[in-house]
Amino acid sequence: MPALVDDPNIGRVVVGERELRARVAELGAEITRDYRGRPPLLVGVLKGAFVFMSDLARSIDLPVEFDFMAVSSYGSATKTSGVVRIVKDLDLDLSGRHVLIVEDIIDSGLTLTYLRRNLAARNPASVEVCALLVKEGLQAAPLDLRYTGFTIPPDFVVGYGLDVAERYRNLPYIAVFEEVQGGR
Ligand code: IMP
Ligand code: MG
Repeated sequence: MPALVDDPNIGRVVVGERELRARVAELGAEITRDYRGRPPLLVGVLKGAFVFMSDLARSIDLPVEFDFMAVSSYGSATKTSGVVRIVKDLDLDLSGRHVLIVEDIIDSGLTLTYLRRNLAARNPASVEVCALLVKEGLQAAPLDLRYTGFTIPPDFVVGYGLDVAERYRNLPYIAVFEEVQGGR
Protein backbone atom coordinates (compact mmCIF):
# COMPACT_ATOMS: atom_id res chain seq x y z
CA MET A 1 0.00 0.00 0.00
CA PRO A 2 1.48 3.39 -1.00
CA ALA A 3 2.02 6.19 1.52
CA LEU A 4 -1.00 8.46 1.73
CA VAL A 5 0.71 11.24 -0.23
CA ASP A 6 1.78 8.82 -2.98
CA ASP A 7 -1.64 7.23 -3.36
CA PRO A 8 -2.44 7.13 -7.11
CA ASN A 9 -6.16 7.61 -6.38
CA ILE A 10 -5.49 11.09 -5.07
CA GLY A 11 -5.89 13.57 -7.92
CA ARG A 12 -5.83 17.33 -8.24
CA VAL A 13 -5.65 19.36 -5.03
CA VAL A 14 -8.87 21.37 -4.75
CA VAL A 15 -8.12 23.25 -1.53
CA GLY A 16 -4.58 23.22 -0.15
CA GLU A 17 -3.47 23.33 3.48
CA ARG A 18 -2.58 27.01 3.54
CA GLU A 19 -5.90 28.00 1.96
CA LEU A 20 -7.77 25.84 4.45
CA ARG A 21 -5.96 27.34 7.40
CA ALA A 22 -6.55 30.91 6.21
CA ARG A 23 -10.24 30.43 5.41
CA VAL A 24 -10.99 28.56 8.63
CA ALA A 25 -9.38 31.42 10.58
CA GLU A 26 -11.59 33.93 8.71
CA LEU A 27 -14.72 31.91 9.41
CA GLY A 28 -13.77 31.67 13.08
CA ALA A 29 -13.27 35.44 13.26
CA GLU A 30 -16.67 36.06 11.60
CA ILE A 31 -18.41 33.69 13.97
CA THR A 32 -16.67 35.31 16.93
CA ARG A 33 -18.00 38.72 15.84
CA ASP A 34 -21.51 37.51 15.05
CA TYR A 35 -22.05 35.47 18.21
CA ARG A 36 -20.50 37.77 20.81
CA GLY A 37 -22.78 37.68 23.86
CA ARG A 38 -24.65 34.58 22.70
CA PRO A 39 -22.06 31.81 22.26
CA PRO A 40 -23.19 29.08 19.89
CA LEU A 41 -23.63 25.40 20.43
CA LEU A 42 -21.60 23.82 17.63
CA VAL A 43 -23.33 20.77 16.22
CA GLY A 44 -20.92 18.67 14.20
CA VAL A 45 -22.20 16.22 11.65
CA LEU A 46 -20.18 13.04 11.99
CA LYS A 47 -17.99 11.76 10.76
CA GLY A 48 -16.90 14.09 7.97
CA ALA A 49 -17.03 17.37 9.92
CA PHE A 50 -14.71 16.34 12.74
CA VAL A 51 -11.49 17.76 11.28
CA PHE A 52 -13.05 21.03 10.15
CA MET A 53 -14.94 21.44 13.42
CA SER A 54 -11.81 20.89 15.45
CA ASP A 55 -9.90 23.61 13.58
CA LEU A 56 -12.88 25.96 13.37
CA ALA A 57 -13.65 25.75 17.09
CA ARG A 58 -10.09 26.72 17.95
CA SER A 59 -10.39 29.87 15.85
CA ILE A 60 -13.60 30.97 17.62
CA ASP A 61 -12.81 33.18 20.60
CA LEU A 62 -16.03 32.50 22.53
CA PRO A 63 -17.07 29.91 25.13
CA VAL A 64 -18.68 27.55 22.61
CA GLU A 65 -20.13 24.18 23.50
CA PHE A 66 -20.08 21.04 21.39
CA ASP A 67 -22.39 18.29 20.41
CA PHE A 68 -22.37 15.75 17.60
CA MET A 69 -24.85 13.97 15.48
CA ALA A 70 -24.35 11.10 13.09
CA VAL A 71 -26.64 10.62 10.14
CA SER A 72 -26.63 8.17 7.34
CA SER A 73 -28.37 8.76 4.09
CA TYR A 74 -29.74 5.95 2.05
CA GLY A 75 -28.39 5.71 -1.47
CA SER A 76 -25.22 4.67 -3.22
CA ALA A 77 -21.75 5.47 -1.89
CA THR A 78 -21.47 8.74 -3.79
CA LYS A 79 -25.11 9.88 -4.20
CA THR A 80 -27.65 10.73 -1.50
CA SER A 81 -31.31 9.78 -1.80
CA GLY A 82 -32.53 12.43 0.61
CA VAL A 83 -33.84 9.89 3.07
CA VAL A 84 -31.76 10.48 6.17
CA ARG A 85 -31.57 8.36 9.28
CA ILE A 86 -30.22 9.59 12.61
CA VAL A 87 -27.57 7.10 13.68
CA LYS A 88 -26.46 9.05 16.76
CA ASP A 89 -28.62 11.82 18.13
CA LEU A 90 -27.48 14.88 20.09
CA ASP A 91 -26.85 14.60 23.83
CA LEU A 92 -27.94 18.16 24.64
CA ASP A 93 -31.30 19.87 24.78
CA LEU A 94 -31.48 22.59 22.13
CA SER A 95 -34.18 24.75 23.67
CA GLY A 96 -33.10 28.36 23.82
CA ARG A 97 -29.70 27.56 22.28
CA HIS A 98 -28.02 29.28 19.36
CA VAL A 99 -27.24 26.27 17.23
CA LEU A 100 -24.54 26.38 14.57
CA ILE A 101 -24.51 23.27 12.40
CA VAL A 102 -21.00 22.47 11.17
CA GLU A 103 -20.98 20.47 7.94
CA ASP A 104 -18.14 19.19 5.82
CA ILE A 105 -19.68 19.36 2.36
CA ILE A 106 -23.00 20.13 0.70
CA ASP A 107 -23.74 18.20 -2.45
CA SER A 108 -27.46 17.87 -3.21
CA GLY A 109 -28.28 19.69 0.03
CA LEU A 110 -30.76 16.99 1.02
CA THR A 111 -28.89 15.94 4.17
CA LEU A 112 -28.70 19.52 5.35
CA THR A 113 -32.34 20.27 4.56
CA TYR A 114 -33.36 17.30 6.67
CA LEU A 115 -31.00 18.24 9.55
CA ARG A 116 -32.02 21.85 9.67
CA ARG A 117 -35.70 20.95 9.81
CA ASN A 118 -35.07 18.32 12.46
CA LEU A 119 -33.07 20.66 14.71
CA ALA A 120 -35.38 23.64 14.17
CA ALA A 121 -38.23 21.55 15.60
CA ARG A 122 -36.40 21.30 18.96
CA ASN A 123 -37.13 24.88 19.99
CA PRO A 124 -33.66 26.46 19.60
CA ALA A 125 -33.21 30.24 19.75
CA SER A 126 -31.61 30.09 16.29
CA VAL A 127 -30.20 27.63 13.77
CA GLU A 128 -27.48 28.59 11.29
CA VAL A 129 -25.11 26.57 9.12
CA CYS A 130 -21.37 26.70 8.57
CA ALA A 131 -20.35 24.47 5.64
CA LEU A 132 -16.74 24.11 4.65
CA LEU A 133 -17.46 23.11 1.04
CA VAL A 134 -20.37 23.59 -1.31
CA LYS A 135 -20.45 21.88 -4.68
CA GLU A 136 -21.35 24.18 -7.54
CA GLY A 137 -24.84 24.15 -8.94
CA LEU A 138 -26.18 20.86 -7.66
CA GLN A 139 -28.73 21.98 -5.12
CA ALA A 140 -32.43 21.66 -5.85
CA ALA A 141 -33.49 24.20 -3.22
CA PRO A 142 -31.75 27.32 -1.86
CA LEU A 143 -29.53 26.40 1.07
CA ASP A 144 -29.40 29.57 3.16
CA LEU A 145 -25.89 28.98 4.45
CA ARG A 146 -24.75 31.60 6.95
CA TYR A 147 -21.07 30.65 6.49
CA THR A 148 -19.37 28.92 3.56
CA GLY A 149 -15.71 28.02 3.22
CA PHE A 150 -15.26 27.27 -0.46
CA THR A 151 -17.40 26.63 -3.51
CA ILE A 152 -15.87 23.78 -5.49
CA PRO A 153 -16.55 21.98 -8.80
CA PRO A 154 -18.84 18.96 -8.59
CA ASP A 155 -16.11 16.29 -8.36
CA PHE A 156 -15.95 13.70 -5.61
CA VAL A 157 -13.35 14.91 -3.14
CA VAL A 158 -11.54 13.46 -0.13
CA GLY A 159 -9.38 14.68 2.73
CA TYR A 160 -9.72 17.02 5.73
CA GLY A 161 -12.42 14.74 7.15
CA LEU A 162 -13.94 13.53 3.87
CA ASP A 163 -13.67 9.87 3.04
CA VAL A 164 -14.12 7.09 0.57
CA ALA A 165 -15.01 3.98 2.55
CA GLU A 166 -13.49 5.54 5.70
CA ARG A 167 -10.16 6.31 4.07
CA TYR A 168 -8.38 9.60 3.35
CA ARG A 169 -10.01 11.52 6.21
CA ASN A 170 -6.55 12.39 7.56
CA LEU A 171 -5.26 13.84 4.29
CA PRO A 172 -4.39 17.41 5.37
CA TYR A 173 -5.85 19.01 2.20
CA ILE A 174 -8.82 18.43 -0.11
CA ALA A 175 -8.22 16.58 -3.36
CA VAL A 176 -10.24 14.97 -6.13
CA PHE A 177 -10.65 11.24 -5.70
CA GLU A 178 -9.89 9.43 -8.95
CA GLU A 179 -10.29 5.71 -8.79
CA VAL A 180 -7.25 4.17 -10.43
CA GLN A 181 -7.50 0.57 -11.59
CA GLY A 182 -5.35 -1.52 -9.32
CA GLY A 183 -4.54 1.61 -7.33
CA ARG A 184 -5.30 0.03 -3.99
P1 IMP B 1 -25.99 15.79 0.19
O1 IMP B 1 -27.11 15.32 1.05
O2 IMP B 1 -26.14 15.33 -1.24
O3 IMP B 1 -25.76 17.28 0.28
O4 IMP B 1 -24.69 15.03 0.67
C1 IMP B 1 -23.97 15.46 1.76
C2 IMP B 1 -23.15 14.35 2.37
O5 IMP B 1 -22.65 13.43 1.38
C3 IMP B 1 -21.92 14.94 3.04
O6 IMP B 1 -22.17 15.24 4.40
C4 IMP B 1 -20.88 13.88 2.83
O7 IMP B 1 -20.92 12.94 3.89
C5 IMP B 1 -21.28 13.18 1.55
N1 IMP B 1 -20.54 13.71 0.39
C6 IMP B 1 -21.04 14.47 -0.59
N2 IMP B 1 -20.10 14.77 -1.51
C7 IMP B 1 -18.96 14.22 -1.07
C8 IMP B 1 -17.59 14.18 -1.58
O8 IMP B 1 -17.24 14.75 -2.63
N3 IMP B 1 -16.69 13.49 -0.84
C9 IMP B 1 -17.01 12.85 0.33
N4 IMP B 1 -18.27 12.86 0.84
C10 IMP B 1 -19.23 13.53 0.15
MG1 MG C 1 -19.53 10.59 4.17
